[in-house]
Order: sequence, then structure tokens, then C-alpha cells
Amino acid sequence: KIRIAVLASGRGSNLQSIIEESQAGRLDAEIVLVASNKADAGALERAGEAGIATCAIDHRQFKNREDFDREMVAALREARVDLVILAGFMRLLSNVFIEAFPHRIMNIHPSLLPAFPGLDVQRKALEYGARFSGCTVHFVDGGLDTGPIIIQAVVPIHEDDNEESLSARILEQEHRIYPRAIQLFAEDRLRIEGRRVRILNPDRPEDRAL
Ligand code: GAR
Repeated sequence: KIRIAVLASGRGSNLQSIIEESQAGRLDAEIVLVASNKADAGALERAGEAGIATCAIDHRQFKNREDFDREMVAALREARVDLVILAGFMRLLSNVFIEAFPHRIMNIHPSLLPAFPGLDVQRKALEYGARFSGCTVHFVDGGLDTGPIIIQAVVPIHEDDNEESLSARILEQEHRIYPRAIQLFAEDRLRIEGRRVRILNPDRPEDRAL
């Protein structure tokens, strides 16, 4: 089993889906730490209920991003983490963090990248008039939501959608594809080739485009 840490700033529904897959024995990964920059994050509470170690590091106590990242990296190293999972972690990572875990950080983003990077992207997709949106699991590099794409899922945008209804439809897919991407990593089936991620021996054609 690989050792993973989940970093989350909010309610932690993606964390919950990973916990449940792990408890169901469908993930060759053990969540050894849940870390947050917010002491009151719902994610920390969920982790506590599942008996997972937690740590809260308040970014406002550090004079710059690098110092905060050094503290996070120290906690992750201490927990001997193989893979870092960003699940609604609302902090940009500096090179200090990225270089500490090369090709070992994943993020989930609620749009079909490279469309709509950044924040409030469900609203942006609606306002743009897109017919489809979705979610993307990708490796993290130095840019904003720019790293190599692992899995994407597509969802339709309906005529009467609002931000909430679209977010809920996307979230359902997030909960499906994030554990899948982690399992592919755990099985050592992901190969980064430049911008592209190759999946070795896909079980199903949908592995690449769920
Ligand atoms: C998810 O929709 C995730 O894709 C998004 O935040 C939400 C977290 O929900 N992440 C980002 O926007 C990253 N910039 P959760 O706390 O219930 O998992």
C-alpha cells in the first residue's frame, strides 16, 4: 500500500470519497495524514471520525508562501508520504513544495482543463455558455491548474442549471474519478511523458476519459 496525505481547506467531500473507497478495500493506499491550512475545516473533522491523523498549519502565521510550504513539507516527510492529494486545498504551492514531491502531487479541479483554471469555475462555465463542463485530476506543476492531465469526466450543462446544481453534478464525478486516479498511481500505471500522462494497461477504454 502507498502512503497518501490529503490536503484540504474546506468541507472535505472528496476526502470522504477517498476514505470510503479505502475502507471498502478498493484502494491500495492508506491515508496517513489529513492536513489543512484551516483549523476549522470540515475535512479535519471527517478525518478525525475516521481515525486518521490530522494537522492544521495556519498559513497566516508565516511571512511568505515558501515558509508555510516548508512547514507542510516537514509534516508530510515526517509521515513518510508517497503521494500528496490536494482536495479543495485553496493554496497555491511554491517550488519549495513541488520540488519536494516531484510528480507526486495530484489535484482535482472542477472544470475541463485547460478551460476555466482558477476559482469559481462552475459559475464561469455557466456564464460562458458552455454546453459541457466536468472535472480534471492532474499532476501539479508550478502553474495554476496547468499540470499533466490524468483523468477527466464530462458533465452536461442544462438550460436551467445554476451554480449549485452544476457544482453538485460535477462533484458526483469528482468523487468517482479521484479515487480511480489514486488507484492508478498506487498500481504504478501512470507514466508522465512531457505534457501527457500514459496509463499502462487500461482496464477499460474509459480509464482515460471517464
Ligand atoms: C471541489 O469541487 C474541488 O474540485 C474544488 O473545491 C471543491 C472542494 O470540495 N477545488 C478547487 O476549486 C481547487 N482550486 P470538497 O472540500 O467537498 O472536496
